[in-house]
Amino acid sequence: MTAHQPNDAALLKTFPLGLPLLDMIQRDPLGAANRLQRHFGDVARLDILFRRVYYFFAPEAARQILVDHQSDFTREARLLRIFESFQGKNVLTTEGADWERQRRILTPGFSPKRVSGYIELMRAAIADSVREELPVEAGHSALIDVDFLTTRITMDVILRTLFSYATTSVEASDISIAIRALTRQSMREVFWAFVPPKWLPYPGRADKLAHIQTLNTLVTTQIRARTSNPGIGTQNDVLDMLLAARDDAPTAGNSSLTSQEIHDNCMLLFSAGFDTSSSALTWWIGLMATHPEIAGRLRDEIDSAMAEGSPLEHIARLPYLNATIKEAMRLYSPSTALFTRVALRDVVIGDTPVSKGTLVAIRIWSLHHDERSFAEPDRYRPERFLPDAPAIPRSAYMPFGAGPHFCLGQHFATMEMALIAAHLAMDFEFSLAEGTTLPEPFVDVALKPKTTLKVQFTRRQKTRSP
Ligand code: HEM
Repeated sequence: MTAHQPNDAALLKTFPLGLPLLDMIQRDPLGAANRLQRHFGDVARLDILFRRVYYFFAPEAARQILVDHQSDFTREARLLRIFESFQGKNVLTTEGADWERQRRILTPGFSPKRVSGYIELMRAAIADSVREELPVEAGHSALIDVDFLTTRITMDVILRTLFSYATTSVEASDISIAIRALTRQSMREVFWAFVPPKWLPYPGRADKLAHIQTLNTLVTTQIRARTSNPGIGTQNDVLDMLLAARDDAPTAGNSSLTSQEIHDNCMLLFSAGFDTSSSALTWWIGLMATHPEIAGRLRDEIDSAMAEGSPLEHIARLPYLNATIKEAMRLYSPSTALFTRVALRDVVIGDTPVSKGTLVAIRIWSLHHDERSFAEPDRYRPERFLPDAPAIPRSAYMPFGAGPHFCLGQHFATMEMALIAAHLAMDFEFSLAEGTTLPEPFVDVALKPKTTLKVQFTRRQKTRSP
């Protein structure tokens, strides 16, 4: 504990306003959750700004809220309004019948089968950005800012799969700056007393509008190019899927998404679709650099599959490869918390009565670091996720959430991360700069290294990337 931090008891005595607590949750959400769990155990009951808030830390409670009692909870309207202010009305920012319809129409486009159809677009994006950003000659090395690299690759992947659009390093950087600035601004607004209307001047508004404009221009240009030029033919990308998707519910009359819904879902997919995957890969690379024996075992697995002439899709499903990524997401879950939920009616979770209107928070980070579910929780042990390992306790592992709002892009992200990881592991050796260790994690919407993570990438002698 640092000198300016009050101890737990002093912090919790500040009820009913809870302002110091709110400040701590805003500045250091991981530290705040850890302290609350240490002080309260599996359920923390707080009163913040005269509102009752529960933190649930145990897997069983998470499952009850997200799955068993899903219809007793909704996502927080205020949070959805904040995201709507830059993304419009899409599958993330709507609730009820509107959300159900959009989710139903979009789901087939993100099925494992459909995602397999995006493999060639993903492969091309990865090969191009790796060629531009990393050493090309065998034996050559470069010290790389890992987050910059993973942002560049995942941005290229999402733009290529969404619009068949190949970006440049500078453009990828501009777009990621705009998206991260907008998401950070949204997270600041979460802690404001009210959601400001569009016309009201407020801190950060001018930058927010400029960033929205950058993204809008990109999305509108891409959609217009496709819809105003039918001769362009099918690109087999996500935009094609969105344009062709129909609602197959019996009463829906095969309706499609409106033009506005297509635009707003593009804004979402491209914001949701790179920062989380980039965060997971950043930590995965850091872990490979600090666990050479695991990186070596992984290379052996990929080498054998390549020697057998396995297709790319098979390589992306290799068990040890996927175990290294799953375990990286357990230790460093890209989303450390789920969107909060609000109780629609009185309900009992475990033996805790939760009354209507109460806000509940589930911390994925806490679930993933619980030693009751994971022996030696702070150790990187990919074997936990091999097919013959003992089963992971129910709901103890949920990097993609659970219940009806679980991540729409789960199969997409899993395929994308496996392809990127396989490509990098095949072609490069990773090591940390002399005398350095992995930085502390820090919640910057997604989980990022607190200080720049730099890794030495050395091109291997004789490699054939997948
Ligand atoms: C490692 C990568 C990713 C992680 C860890 C992740 C995590 C999550 C989580 C935890 C949720 C649930 C939020 C909640 O229940 O409140 C979610 C929802 C969502 N994710 Fe992802 N995500 C990832 C990648 C992606 C990608 C690549 C896409 C799209 C291409 C995507 C699209 C979405 C959408 C649209 C939702 C909202 C679903 C709904 O509310 O119905 N995600 N994600």
